[in-house]
Amino acid sequence: MPNSYFSKDKVIHSPDFTPFTVSWKSPSNIALVKYWGKHGRQLPTNPSISFTLSEAHTTIEMSCELKDDSENQPSLNFFFEGEKKPNFEKRIQSFLNSVSDIFPFLRQLQLNIHSSNSFPHSSGIASSASSMSALALALCDAEKNLFGEDERSSFFQKVSYVSRLASGSACRSVYPVAALWGFSRELNSSSDEYAVPVLDHLHPVFHNFKDTILVLSDQAKAVSSSAGHSLMEVHPFAKTRFELANKNLAQLLPALKKGDLETMGKIVENEALMLHALMLTSNPNYILFEPATIAVIKKVRAFRADTGIPVWFTLDAGPNVHLLYPSEEALKVDSFIEDQLLPHCIPGKSIFDSCGQGPEKLNS
Ligand code: DP6
Repeated sequence: MPNSYFSKDKVIHSPDFTPFTVSWKSPSNIALVKYWGKHGRQLPTNPSISFTLSEAHTTIEMSCELKDDSENQPSLNFFFEGEKKPNFEKRIQSFLNSVSDIFPFLRQLQLNIHSSNSFPHSSGIASSASSMSALALALCDAEKNLFGEDERSSFFQKVSYVSRLASGSACRSVYPVAALWGFSRELNSSSDEYAVPVLDHLHPVFHNFKDTILVLSDQAKAVSSSAGHSLMEVHPFAKTRFELANKNLAQLLPALKKGDLETMGKIVENEALMLHALMLTSNPNYILFEPATIAVIKKVRAFRADTGIPVWFTLDAGPNVHLLYPSEEALKVDSFIEDQLLPHCIPGKSIFDSCGQGPEKLNS
């Protein structure tokens, strides 16, 4: 259906227009099998799967008025946490321009966007998944307001498609609990163009799985994810990486179905370390983890070996550690985190998160 996402007809008939506002809350997500490498217009080089989070989210409010100038591009005023942010505004303006083949009516509008994150500013927590999925939700909802529901495709599939164009990982944030993005022979409905929900393929133990995000550094990343994806185009291990990601996904899906925590944990840690191994071996190479990252990983492994409690780590493209564990173990794991791991963290920035229900429409 992505072909039906493009439309020349969706233009506003001015006399019928009434200004309106749409508001959404959209979560971040944490990948279990990582997306690392892309081609074409934001297409992934391998399939990835993630848990949808709950506490780490972006809230967006977008008001739409008819604009009075005749410029052929959307007009934007963008505020982040109450302040005008020229850099963010520029990025969003160029994204809006790039999707005006999908949303031609945007060229007729003045958009005022207010966006804010639930997590502290410069906490090193990647915000593009929540912020770009929130933006895609606002755009698709505005389209629905103006032209009604598109019966040929599902609302959230289109949101996922549009989110992907803004930031790959964002396309996985739009479904409850977990999502898979990228074609995989393991799942017929999967696609490179949008993520699909995988809640039905999950054992109930994962429905409220915990993800505690340990913020070990709040410095800006030395190398952006976009640059990291590009380096995969000429990476000496790229072919092997893409094969292994497919293999890891093929083994992870049955483990997620059965509730096989051991297999899940091994794959998730392998994926995290492989992601950073790819950075260490790219040309130019770079290091995003910190001494504290290794210290925390070692303590987690020792705690698991000593207690038999199922808790595993994963990493994003940065130094922070995500700890994944069943909610039944939260009492014991949380007290281990407080006693042994929080001393490595930036005070007040870590988040005790868990799998969540996906985006939420707010009253405008
Ligand atoms: C390491 O989605 O941030 O978090 O598509 O360029 O916006 P762009 O990249 P982005 O890459 C995220 C990579 C990752 C792994 C993952 O989330 O799968």
